[in-house]
Amino acid sequence: MKSFTEYSALAEQTIRDKKYPGGDIETLYGPIDYALGAGGKRLRPALALMTAEAFGGKAEEAMNAAIGLEIFHNFTLLHDDVMDNSDTRRGRESVHAKWDVNTAILSGDTMLTQATMMVSEVPDEKLRKVLDAFNAMAIKVYEGQRLDMDFESREDVTGEEYVKMIMDKTGALLGASAMIGAMIGGASDEDAARMYDYGMMLGIAFQIQDDWLDVFGDSNTFGKPIGGDINNNKKSFLMLSGLAVEGADGDALREAIKLPAGDMKVKVVTRLYEKMGISDVCKKEIAHYCSKALTALKKIKMSEENKEPFRKLLEKLTGRKK
Ligand code: IPE
Ligand code: IPE
Ligand code: MG
Ligand code: MG
Ligand code: MG
Repeated sequence: MKSFTEYSALAEQTIRDKKYPGGDIETLYGPIDYALGAGGKRLRPALALMTAEAFGGKAEEAMNAAIGLEIFHNFTLLHDDVMDNSDTRRGRESVHAKWDVNTAILSGDTMLTQATMMVSEVPDEKLRKVLDAFNAMAIKVYEGQRLDMDFESREDVTGEEYVKMIMDKTGALLGASAMIGAMIGGASDEDAARMYDYGMMLGIAFQIQDDWLDVFGDSNTFGKPIGGDINNNKKSFLMLSGLAVEGADGDALREAIKLPAGDMKVKVVTRLYEKMGISDVCKKEIAHYCSKALTALKKIKMSEENKEPFRKLLEKLTGRKK
C-alpha cells in the first residue's frame, strides 16, 4: 500500500500524460485540458486507487475508472462555477471566466461523457455494478446541486436538509469513488458498501471544511474567492449555525443576509460568525463525521495496516487549507 499522497501523485501523472479521451477541436478540448491540467488534490481518483489496493487489487487496474471519477468531478466544477458565478478556481480563471458560459456548458457535457467512457473501462464482469454505482452517484450530485441552489432563496433550511444536500452534492462522489475502487479491488458487496459509507462520512466532513474555508481560508492557498457563499446567500454550515442562534447576534445575522452582495456584506457576516464562535461549531461537526467515517472503517474486513492510510486521510483533509 502506498500513502494517499502517492496515489494522488499517480493520478496526477496519468492526467498530465493525457491518458484520457480527446479530440482536435481546440475550442472544445482546450478548456478540458486547461481544467484538468490545473492540479487540485486529486482526492477522488486517489481514494479509488487506494481502496482498490487496500482490497488486494492493483492501482493500474483501477486507473481508468479513477481518472473517470476525477473527470466527472471536474465537469461538475465547470458547471458549478457558472451556477455559483465564481470566476476563480485552483488559483486561476474558471473556464466560464476565461472563455464563456457556452464553453463551460459544452466542454462540461463532453467531460461527463469522457468520464463515463473511462469509468466503463473495467473488466466485463464488473462493468454492470461499476456503471450502476457511477450513474446513481451522478444523479445524486445533480439533486444535491439543485437543492444547494434552491436553498439560496430560503431562510428556513434545517440542519437535516443541509446534511442531505451535501451528502448528495459532495458525499455521493467520495462514497462512489471508494466503492468503485473497492469493487475493482475485489471487495465483497458488504465491504464495498461500507467503503461507500466511509467515503460519504468523509465527504460530509470535507464539505463542512469547504464551507469554513470559503469564509476563513486564504484565497491564494484555497484557490477560490473568499466570501462567495456569503454573497450567494448559500445555506452553508456556517450560515445555518449562525441563523440558529437566538438573540441579538442571530438577529444581526438575519438582517445582514439582506445586504446587497459585496465586500461589506462579507465583512459584516464574517464578524458575526467570529462573535458567535461558529468556527468551533464547525470543528465539532467535522470531528463528529470523522468519527462516523472511522466507525464505518472499523466494520470492514481489512488489515489494520491497510486501514491506516484511510485514517490518515481523515486527519489530512480536516486540517487542510486548500
Ligand atoms: C471542490 O472539491 C468541490 C467540493 C466538493 C468542495 P475539491 O476541494 O476536491 O477541489 P480540487 O479538485 O482539489 O480542486
Ligand atoms: C461543491 O459545492 C459541490 C460540487 C461542485 C458538485 P461548492 O459550490 O461549495 O464547491 P466549490 O466551493 O465551488 O468548489
Ligand atoms: Mg456550488
Ligand atoms: Mg461553487
Ligand atoms: Mg464551496
